[in-house]
Amino acid sequence: MSVQVEKIKALIEKREKARLGGGEKAIDKQHQRGKYTARERIDMLLDDGSFEEYDMFKLHRCTNFGMEKKQFLGDGVVVGSGTIDGRLVYVFAQDFTVNGGSLSETMAQKICKVMDMAMKMGAPCIGINDSGGARIQEGINALAGYAEIFQRNIEASGVIPQISGIFGPCAGGAVYSPALTDFTLMMENTSYMFLTGPAVVKSVTGENVDAEHLGGASVHSTKSGVTHFTAKTEEEALAMIKQLLSYLPSNNMEEAPRVECNDPIDRMDDILNEIIPENPNEAYDMYKVISAITDNGEFFEVQPKYAKNIIVGFARFNGQSVGIVANQPSSYAGVLDCNASRKGARFVRFCDAFNIPIVSLVDVPGFLPGTGQEYNAVILHGAKLLYAYGEASVPKITVTLRKSYGGSHIVMGCKQLKTDLNFAWPSAEIAVMGASGAVAVLQAKGIKQIKEEGGDVAAFIAEKEKEYSDLFQNPYQAAKYGYIDDVIEPRNTRFRICRGLAQLATKRETRPSKKHGCMPT
Ligand code: HXC
Repeated sequence: MSVQVEKIKALIEKREKARLGGGEKAIDKQHQRGKYTARERIDMLLDDGSFEEYDMFKLHRCTNFGMEKKQFLGDGVVVGSGTIDGRLVYVFAQDFTVNGGSLSETMAQKICKVMDMAMKMGAPCIGINDSGGARIQEGINALAGYAEIFQRNIEASGVIPQISGIFGPCAGGAVYSPALTDFTLMMENTSYMFLTGPAVVKSVTGENVDAEHLGGASVHSTKSGVTHFTAKTEEEALAMIKQLLSYLPSNNMEEAPRVECNDPIDRMDDILNEIIPENPNEAYDMYKVISAITDNGEFFEVQPKYAKNIIVGFARFNGQSVGIVANQPSSYAGVLDCNASRKGARFVRFCDAFNIPIVSLVDVPGFLPGTGQEYNAVILHGAKLLYAYGEASVPKITVTLRKSYGGSHIVMGCKQLKTDLNFAWPSAEIAVMGASGAVAVLQAKGIKQIKEEGGDVAAFIAEKEKEYSDLFQNPYQAAKYGYIDDVIEPRNTRFRICRGLAQLATKRETRPSKKHGCMPT
């Protein structure tokens, strides 16, 4: 065998060794837990044969606590580039089979390398987390490594889409990288995220809680809103990441890819003309409206289990990717509260950063009152949603279906927040408040007097409420002043949105230059 052939053979052997990560035993253990390895995950995520791996021979430099004996080629992360549906992406997947995927200085360098390349090339960066956190033996160097990653997460925010899959443990300060990215997906039952684990919680606060109830997918998808998506299997999770990417541009200088649309833009759905109940206090399902108007009725929902009173997610109109924000009358009457405001604000800001038009479907009775909300800073969270809408300069279309009262009317993309097209259904009620509230305030003296005189209070209230609702509970007051551009037939909504988006395609809007705003938090 020639020297060259021998060298090539050695390279192939080295590669094979690197591909085994922490070794066959550790791989078996990973599989026994129902988890795939880092390389298997990357293979499933990327287009066949497109993965270009970097730094597979990189080694850590730590010699503390016998670490020189725990050397594995590539250390605990697999990084590189590839394509998804033919589009360039950068990926890193922590390898739990190598020292529990714990983050070393070297691993951080590998992750930072692909993050830097993603920024240079204007391509999304997808991270799959499965790690015991900072590599304890490396001390401050591991912490510095995390900080390097966080700084890149921050700089990449709003420039390239960043997506985090949580496919195992993600604990301590490590959680801040996913939290800084745009979307987080957690595996049900096999992943968790928390700042301090159950043992520390017990020792500090005395609280008994297991990992799942402290930071499992069920907690973060329903209570905290930390995760945007959950999946039962890794196959499902990776398919969701691909689907999400299909709605997004590769960077903030591009538009999302347009797909061919065979759903006619003038398709009418008669269900919409009948969907608003006779009784204004009766709920209906906003999902039915969404599926009636979007291309092929498709909707890719973000945070479906969190703050269900507001619905956010991606859809397409005539093949164009759009962010939908909609109040949900069948969940707490679609009221806005702290969580709904946070959820809506974050989504609106993401869409704005990535040139994705925003379509808002409004049926909102107001903000939820009470100490629970005020103590949790509903003022600031509501202001955050308001800020997000007012700041967004992408094409914005608002359709008011029914209620649109008070502050919530303004917040949900009213005309004065520089919304481009404001449509309303004939059933819209756009006013400062509902009839009963308004009459209680305006007629307080009259009601008191009739009571004292033993008159028919109910009849008086009913008459005054009718007077108020005839005057205000309709879209025409707002249309009269040009705050609503047109009152439309509900079944025509898809067509009006599609035509509106086509019209707004060349929208340019400049705002005063500044370093950055100070968004209420
Ligand atoms: C070094 C680690 C490690 C770590 C795990 N390992 N975590 N090595 N640093 N942080 C090693 C283990 O020693 C073991 O090595 C191998 O990885 C597999 O771990 P196991 O414990 O056998 O696996 P499992 O039973 O599945 O438990 C997984 C685990 C547990 C729950 C993640 O390992 C664990 O609690 N690790 C420590 C978690 C933690 O407290 N991390 C620090 C968080 S603070 P061998 O050689 O025996 O196979 C933090 C700060 C970040 O991360 C700050 C950023 C700003």
